Amino acid sequence: MSLIKVHDREFVPFISEATIQHKIKDLAEQISKDYQGKRPLFVAILNGSFIFASDLFKQLEIEAEICFIKLASYKGTKSTGHVVTAIGLDTDITDRHVVILEDIIDTGKTLYEFLPQITNQRPASVRIAVLLHKPEATKYQFPIDYTCFTIPNKFVLGYGLDYDGLGRNIREIYQLHES
Ligand code: XMP
Ligand code: MG
Repeated sequence: MSLIKVHDREFVPFISEATIQHKIKDLAEQISKDYQGKRPLFVAILNGSFIFASDLFKQLEIEAEICFIKLASYKGTKSTGHVVTAIGLDTDITDRHVVILEDIIDTGKTLYEFLPQITNQRPASVRIAVLLHKPEATKYQFPIDYTCFTIPNKFVLGYGLDYDGLGRNIREIYQLHES
C-alpha cells in the first residue's frame, strides 16, 4: 500500500488511473450516442472538474461545445439566504442541450442551489454528469444522469480534486487514510 502525504494527512490509493480512464471512455461513448446531432454544450464547474472535463471532452465523437464556470457561494441577506453565483456563464444556453460537469457531489448543496440559474434560461435540456458521488452524504436530491463512480463518504483527492489546494495533479484518486 503506497501512502502519500498531502499537507498533514495521509492518503491511500483508491481508484487507479486505468480504471478512471476506462470509465471515462465508456461515459464518452454513452454521451456521444445520447447527444448525436444535438451539439450539446458542456458546462464544466471549476476548479475540481477541469481534468475530468478535459479527458471526457477529448473522447467525444460528436460535435460539442464546452465552457467553464466557477461557482462562488456566499451568505446573502435574510430573505435571499445562501446565494450561489456563476462566474463566466457567458454562453447563451437558451434552447441548448446542456450537460453540467462536476467533480463530486457530496451534500448536493452547491449544484442544487445553482441548477435554477441554468433552468431559468430555458435550455432545451439539462443533464448532470459527475465523476464521483457520495450518496451517503447527499442531502439535496436531484437527478444525476451520469455517474462515473459511487463512493463511500470519505474524503478523496487527486484527478482534479484537492486537499487545501494540493493534490489536483495526482493521476489516480486517493482516499483519506484513517488510522
Ligand atoms: P456539495 O456538498 O455542495 O459539495 O455537493 C461539492 C463540493 O465539495 C467539495 N468536496 C470535495 N473535494 N474531496 C475533495 O477534494 C472530497 O472528498 C470532497 N467532497 C466534497 C468539492 O469542491 C465539490 O465540488
Ligand atoms: Mg468542485
